[in-house]
Amino acid sequence: MSDRKILVTSALPYANGPIHLGHLVEYIQTDIWVRFQKQRGNLCYFVCADDTHGTPIMLRADREGISPEQLIAQVGKEHLADFTEFGVAFDNYHSTHSDENKAYSTLIYERLRDAGHISSRTITQAFDPIKNMFLSDRFIKGECPKCGALDQYGDSCEACGATYSPTELKNAVSAISGAKPVAKDSVHYFFDLANFTDMLRDWTCAGHLQPEVRNKLAEWLEGGLQQWDISRDAPYFGFEIPDAPGKYFYVWLDAPIGYMASFKNLCDKKGLDFNEFWSKNSDAELYHFIGKDIIYFHALFWPAMLSGAHFRTPSAIFAHGFLTVNGEKMSKSRGTFITARTYLEHLNPEYLRYYFAAKLSAGVDDIDLNFDDFSQRVNSDLVGKVVNIASRCSGFISKRFANTLSEHCSEPALFDQFVDAHSQIAEYYETREFGKAMREIMALADLANQYIDHKKPWLIAKEEGKDQELHEVCSMGINLFRLLAVYLQPVLPVLSGNAESFLNIPVQVWPIKAQPLLNHVINDFKPLMTRVEADKIEMIVAASKENLVKTVATPQAKNFEPIADTIEFDDFAKLDLRIGKIIKAEHVDGADKLLQLTVDIGDETRNIFAGIKSAYQPEALEGKLTLVIANLAPRKMRFGLSEGMVLAAGPGGKDIWVLSPDEGALPGMRVK
Ligand code: 2FM
Ligand code: ZN
Repeated sequence: MSDRKILVTSALPYANGPIHLGHLVEYIQTDIWVRFQKQRGNLCYFVCADDTHGTPIMLRADREGISPEQLIAQVGKEHLADFTEFGVAFDNYHSTHSDENKAYSTLIYERLRDAGHISSRTITQAFDPIKNMFLSDRFIKGECPKCGALDQYGDSCEACGATYSPTELKNAVSAISGAKPVAKDSVHYFFDLANFTDMLRDWTCAGHLQPEVRNKLAEWLEGGLQQWDISRDAPYFGFEIPDAPGKYFYVWLDAPIGYMASFKNLCDKKGLDFNEFWSKNSDAELYHFIGKDIIYFHALFWPAMLSGAHFRTPSAIFAHGFLTVNGEKMSKSRGTFITARTYLEHLNPEYLRYYFAAKLSAGVDDIDLNFDDFSQRVNSDLVGKVVNIASRCSGFISKRFANTLSEHCSEPALFDQFVDAHSQIAEYYETREFGKAMREIMALADLANQYIDHKKPWLIAKEEGKDQELHEVCSMGINLFRLLAVYLQPVLPVLSGNAESFLNIPVQVWPIKAQPLLNHVINDFKPLMTRVEADKIEMIVAASKENLVKTVATPQAKNFEPIADTIEFDDFAKLDLRIGKIIKAEHVDGADKLLQLTVDIGDETRNIFAGIKSAYQPEALEGKLTLVIANLAPRKMRFGLSEGMVLAAGPGGKDIWVLSPDEGALPGMRVK
């Protein structure tokens, strides 16, 4: 056992949605690194948890009619099942809604407070008077103060890119209740990050960060560090701040503490010493794998919190880039927003582990999952090169030599070349240059195949008196295959485990001193991996589109997404939706379905033909309100000009509804 003691984490996934392929880049990257460390004989623990607190989780539970505790228990199970089937082998998977996390969050807060790093002051915020809750910028919608685009969030406009404060939004409403927000005061608690400026200046330059991340942090530090608002008012799903009733820790305060909490939970289960890993003088290594979008939290707030609360700081933060699919952002309408579960229903998870490994480097560049490249690489590298070596040689060993390998190694130099490659491959794994490691291993696979091509065992097998040569060539092939399997073990644990069963050997350690298997009985060969079938990828894409339709039809379902076949936001922003009052409705001569409506849309009246005759007698419509698309280009119809469109809902026939009069809604009111 080596001297290294290592604790590794992946970012904690939010408990309000499913694991998707974008998440898996990180969990697979971390898992490969952890498996490599364990294979090398290092003491290494890999912990994670669901990130369970915050408003979105509270609201989703509310929408589903269950408690947040029930929701996070259910989602936690689903997450862990997905990870497990992808071979992501945590030593512990916990929850931020746990006793351990509450205890450490409280402890860290109290230590920071007692050392003078917490202050409080009153701030004014938007408040939803119907839901009785404060609204973060993301829960306020309105018209962009700059370009007038409708339905923009409280902090920035997706149409023109402007950033602003929610008070600047025009006609702002609560995205939760639709109410007009009011301004309300409340006391908030702040972490004085600026107290840690010197500490962070040193820490960020002391080799804990990738160079590109360090440069980004230097810019942030240059701009000056602001106080960080760590409290939220009730109602909030989280931990109440000990000395502040009705105030809760902001989810991002207790989320990273969840790393400690999960490890503490593991320590209690296994009798490990928590302090050995977290005390200020710990000689253990601590690594956080994260996406580049959450660097600020991990490389500024987190080390400052730890340092202010007298815990050790991380040895390094390893940030990675985002996943694109076929060169574009994952898209629900294109069927490229693929959940872990949908993938697992159709394809072998080790394909994806290998593909991500082949694309990953130590940097923060985005990685692309290109479906053609995916199939081609898996089929050619794993099936065509690696597994093929075993399948080419095992038949002869089984039929001609009773599954027993030869007594002599015929090409010791080639065998040694494979063993000597271990240090370069190890360096690539250690430095997270997995793509380079895969290329190195595939170069060895090429060498092994060239050896077999050159020796041509299928011809030797036909010659008299060449049994020993045939035996040695095929045994050599099997021995080379064995080394490829051990090098691939961090990436392909299942394939590698099946290879060990075939080779009839125990779990392989890193092959620093590997010797060939001689006069050794192996088992019958069974196919270790089959080719990627293109139609399975098509099925995944189709199923990902179907998921979307299903979730739209049942808003209670998890992952509820209100958008069906999506349009671009810019398209939606162009709609001028207004409340209209139907002041006159008449039959149209010669039209079975249409009624002619005169609609007051505030500043003018419009003539609109609407196909709602099956549901309404004209007189029943007069005085009713309806939604109108006011900026639809006028259309010349057989019966006259239609100047807009009336929106009604329902399956058809008699069941079509416009709006009922409501004393709050007035003609001309814009709809968000
Ligand atoms: O960005 C996210 O998905 C967060 N749930 C990550 C939290 S990582 C850690 F700090 F807990
Ligand atoms: Zn705008």
